[in-house]
Amino acid sequence: MTFPNEFAWGSATASYQIEGAMTEDGKGLSVWDAFCRKPGNIMNGDTGRYACDHYHRLDEDVGIMAEIGIQAYRFSVSWPRVLPEGVGAVNRKGLAFYDRLIDRLLENGISPWLTIFHWDFPYALYQRGGWLNRDSANWFADYTGVLVNALSDRVTHWIPLNEPQCFVNLGHYEGTHAPGVELDAASLLTVAHHVLLAHGKAVEVIRAKAVASPIIGTANVGVVTLPESNSPEEIAAARAATVSIRKRNCWNNTWFADPMFFGSYPEDGLRLFEAELPDIQDGDMEIIGSPIDFCGLNIYQGDYLSGRMPAGYPLTSMDWNVTPDALYWGPRFMYERYGKPIVITENGMAGNDWVHLDGRVHDPGRIDFMQRYLESLERAVADGVDCRGYFHWSLMDNFEWGFGYNRRFGLVHVDYQTQKRTLKDSAKWYKQWLAQPNPEKTV
Ligand code: FCB
Repeated sequence: MTFPNEFAWGSATASYQIEGAMTEDGKGLSVWDAFCRKPGNIMNGDTGRYACDHYHRLDEDVGIMAEIGIQAYRFSVSWPRVLPEGVGAVNRKGLAFYDRLIDRLLENGISPWLTIFHWDFPYALYQRGGWLNRDSANWFADYTGVLVNALSDRVTHWIPLNEPQCFVNLGHYEGTHAPGVELDAASLLTVAHHVLLAHGKAVEVIRAKAVASPIIGTANVGVVTLPESNSPEEIAAARAATVSIRKRNCWNNTWFADPMFFGSYPEDGLRLFEAELPDIQDGDMEIIGSPIDFCGLNIYQGDYLSGRMPAGYPLTSMDWNVTPDALYWGPRFMYERYGKPIVITENGMAGNDWVHLDGRVHDPGRIDFMQRYLESLERAVADGVDCRGYFHWSLMDNFEWGFGYNRRFGLVHVDYQTQKRTLKDSAKWYKQWLAQPNPEKTV
């Protein structure tokens, strides 16, 4: 292994996908709680009401992380668990859960990487206009302040938003994720602008108030176009496609990342969306561009430049292409553009995993997937990309949004009838991987 010494090896989860305890200890409802109630929204009528019951199994789950040997754990806080109305009174019991989680992690030598928002927006604030309301940026800043006051003596790694592309597009344009609305393009860009403003204000709050010196970054969708060969022309064309906006939606890198890293929207997007631009007020772009420390990318797959895949190309159970090269070109192109250390904040695959007759979960596909993707990342490091971490999605099988419990992304298998956890073969493989001596460490 030739990863740098300070590399964070971890896994990731999100509150709504694992916690359950939907109304317990004073938790308020989120837009996902509401969205799941509507028949037809989620496969099989599944909901996050119980999920992996992580809220009650925190000790067991941290024990599993320690057993695998991960050094960092990326999790998210449920906004309505901490602030049932989204603003105002703090729910002490809800906050105490995260306090305990962080203590358990630190006792086990695992560094907490806290995502402030991974999609479970407070329903009470949705009723006040949600992200369409410009006040949403201030609501988010206040919520961030509550977390910083309570947790920043122990948390150093902060990620304000998970995948803005996803919850903006799927939740507010395509309508397939909560809150499930189908806005027009102008309103979509207004939502995106408020989301960006929320990110910037959160960064300011963390910098101003954190007790322990903070390290702040993104967890954006890494949209990667792959070259089909190593010719300089192909590479240049793939790079150009990766950092451009060609379609009138928010499925791209730069509409979100340019404002975050440069404090400005990209020119091509400004031209394309000319008729639908949001109301950008004085000072907004400076706030959005408040300096951050790393460029976190969630990368599962890439698309080849030609847009064509050979017949029978390997797919995961999400029908996502297995393209290990995405973990080479994604980090490389983003590092070239933004010049910030790269962290892979999510990468992984869904498989049709079950407990076999011998009581174990054999998932050789996931082991092969991890090996191939990590080799690509290693190649990026060797070619000079400053990479600082890798978080496998996910620690355990969980509620996969519109697919409910039908898609299993975990290193750990969860039997939802009994809540029994079983380490898959891939978890054992990852354990061995993590235990390898790193040649860099001996230098
Ligand atoms: C990402 C999400 C994460 C999970 C994985 C499979 O888009 O951030 O919550 O659903 O995909």
